[in-house]
Amino acid sequence: MTPQTHEIKTYRLEGQAIELLSSPDVWSPYSAKEMISFLTDFGYLESIAGSRVLDLGTGSGIIGIFAGKLGAKEVVLTDYCPSAVRLAVENAEHNGIIAHGIQSDRFKALKGQKFDFIISNPPVQPWLFTDLEHPESRQDSATWNEAGSDGRLVLDSLIAQSKYYLNKGGTFIASCSTRHGHKRTEALLQDYWEGAWQQIYASEHAIDLSYHRPYLPIWLKLQSKDHDLRVYQKDAQGRVFASQTTPDGKKMLIMNWENDKITYKFILEDNVWTAYNTLQHALFEISAHDSRLPTHDTEAAWYYQYILVRGTKN
Ligand SMILES: C[S@@+](CC[C@H](N)C(=O)[O-])C[C@H]1O[C@@H](n2cnc3c(N)ncnc32)[C@H](O)[C@@H]1O
Repeated sequence: MTPQTHEIKTYRLEGQAIELLSSPDVWSPYSAKEMISFLTDFGYLESIAGSRVLDLGTGSGIIGIFAGKLGAKEVVLTDYCPSAVRLAVENAEHNGIIAHGIQSDRFKALKGQKFDFIISNPPVQPWLFTDLEHPESRQDSATWNEAGSDGRLVLDSLIAQSKYYLNKGGTFIASCSTRHGHKRTEALLQDYWEGAWQQIYASEHAIDLSYHRPYLPIWLKLQSKDHDLRVYQKDAQGRVFASQTTPDGKKMLIMNWENDKITYKFILEDNVWTAYNTLQHALFEISAHDSRLPTHDTEAAWYYQYILVRGTKN
């Protein structure tokens, strides 16, 4: 079945004009633009000409098509969403790029393949409306962007498995986000890519509540457990914190205290904030009026960091 395409848009990326058809069940190419611009501007794609490239979770195909425009010898576009694969291949052809489309849940249909570059802008949302076992419940790009109870399903697989699909000297580049839980991402990178990975980029984005509001409670719940701020607010002095409530309705703040590297959870009771560690041990107390506490006088916007990481197979 041909995906129901709507309109064709031109994306001007680093001197390349790429024309892409859109479809309601395929991720819009906008979030890839920042990644592509940074990677190009800072020379991370300089050696892509002549290489074999995998764009995993390809959506519209934008990353793989851009790689093709830069002269990649072979481009493989994969996505778990069948209409994304069809659309991505159609988009590649429309832009004069010969690409091979493979429907695959993460690396499952790619056994034995080797690439010089694996580039991915993986999904981030936790399961809310669907789950992996029931792809039929995925009807639109939002549900296709759900990735496990913590949103990490595809990212974890990229970190753990890319090495097996890379040629020696090959590179994996993935976008990730504090919404994935970045301490966990760093720990996994350290485990699987020890000494051979770097964080190459980070930028702050505001959470688009018109789209992400349903996922906010899950991110807040996850961070109240592991104190790894997926989403945060900022006060007028730029202090970063998350103002939440406990399941029994008490005020909760998750933040670093002064310049401490540790993120504590503070719970307010009888005008006293008690700081807890992740083991739920009470560590110290501060007054509710302490001027070092963040002020809530700014807009109630939520933010996250968008991050790019890169690993090289030695
Ligand atoms: C954030 S979108 C990125 C799309 C495109 N690469 C871009 O940057 O515009 C994530 C993509 O991952 C796909 N995806 C979701 N779960 C997947 C899985 N288990 N295996 C492979 N791809 C998956 C989605 O269908 C979606 O196209």
